[in-house]
Amino acid sequence: MDLFEYQARDLFEAHGVPVLRGITAQTPEEAGAAAEQLGTPVVVVKAQVKTGGRGKAGGVKLARSPQEAADRASEILGMDINGHTVETVMIAEGANIAEEYYFSLLLDRSSRSYLAMCSKEGGMDIETLAVERPEALARVEVDPLVGLDAAKADEIVAAAGFAEADRAEIARVLVLLGEVYRANDATLVEVNPLVKTGEGRIVALDGKVSLDANSAFRHPDWAGYADESSDDPLEVEARSKNLNYVKLDGSVGIIGNGAGLVMSTLDVVAAAGADLPGQPKPANFLDIGGGASAQVMADGLDIILSDAQVKAVFVNVFGGITACSEVAKGIIDALAMLGDRATKPIVVRLDGNAVEIGRHMLAEAAHPLVEVRETMDDAARRAAELAAAAE
Ligand SMILES: Nc1ncnc2c1ncn2[C@@H]1O[C@H](COP(=O)(O)OP(=O)(O)OP(=O)(O)O)[C@@H](O)[C@H]1O
Ligand SMILES: [Mg+2]
Repeated sequence: MDLFEYQARDLFEAHGVPVLRGITAQTPEEAGAAAEQLGTPVVVVKAQVKTGGRGKAGGVKLARSPQEAADRASEILGMDINGHTVETVMIAEGANIAEEYYFSLLLDRSSRSYLAMCSKEGGMDIETLAVERPEALARVEVDPLVGLDAAKADEIVAAAGFAEADRAEIARVLVLLGEVYRANDATLVEVNPLVKTGEGRIVALDGKVSLDANSAFRHPDWAGYADESSDDPLEVEARSKNLNYVKLDGSVGIIGNGAGLVMSTLDVVAAAGADLPGQPKPANFLDIGGGASAQVMADGLDIILSDAQVKAVFVNVFGGITACSEVAKGIIDALAMLGDRATKPIVVRLDGNAVEIGRHMLAEAAHPLVEVRETMDDAARRAAELAAAAE
């Protein structure tokens, strides 16, 4: 779950990280009033969108009076930045920037650890720096069990090559940012730029924070971060039904039980579609889990069938604790519940516990949309063919 910059700013402030004052606005008038309230000679009007490159896209502008702030806000509000429409701006105090640095702390899944990255050369283009001059970007592993303590912060500022005189203060701020990361179950805390001002203060001028949605249960206050406007509507709908669903952009709807089986189903369908016209691909990931009831099957089918891109559905279930007979009953009952809403061909592959009974039940029901195939490869190919034929 990604936060807006102003939300990251507020979290930073709550943990004592030095930030500048900022006020959000949704109209030019509010922006002018915010600039008035800040009362600094220069303010910055900043687009609040969950995507990078705001500055380059013209979404970060200086203003020298409340009127100018309102004018800049009216240009930025409504702007499209990488497909995100700007609905809110933040009016922030203008900083007197002497130097721009970069810092991030993130979950590095490949090393099963945290990774801190830091550079004296921050600002807008850290991705380019990382590729063209990797030596200018220090990378330091941070043990999750220890966290970013003072000793680690000293190691990071030394690795980044900061001037001796600046190291202690920058390290102090890094420890606070590590605390933001730990206390909020974050997977990313990024500050670009972290600046040194003309007065010698170290200040976080921008903030990007991602939170680990798996720990939402212990952060009731995260409800305030809910932002369905930037989510896919089908994913929002699936979440409300407690389904483990991720929208992809192909035409073969997928339902399976167990994340591993569903992942391999995506691969098999993509491979089967590769040499068919239009190269049909999976339309989604959907794991209905073990013990899937008819209701869960109906909810899953309903979501998938309401995806206009879906042309055919592949239900791939391995009966373990839940017998195939239960799954077959689930499919039959689900189709009865859906009635006319079920409109696309459905290829079913069942295997495992009580498979013969399950297949027999589906054959008896003889639903006109359902085709049963014995193997996963066969079923994947058939579903891809049906999707290709419907294009
Ligand atoms: N409060 C401020 N005062 C003065 N200059 C600022 C202020 N905030 C940002 N800037 C300048 O604008 C540049 C871009 O701002 P910011 O980092 O917030 O956006 P961005 O990097 O373009 O966005 P993103 O991080 O989403 O790519 C900064 O590098 C800095 O030079
Ligand atoms: Mg930035």
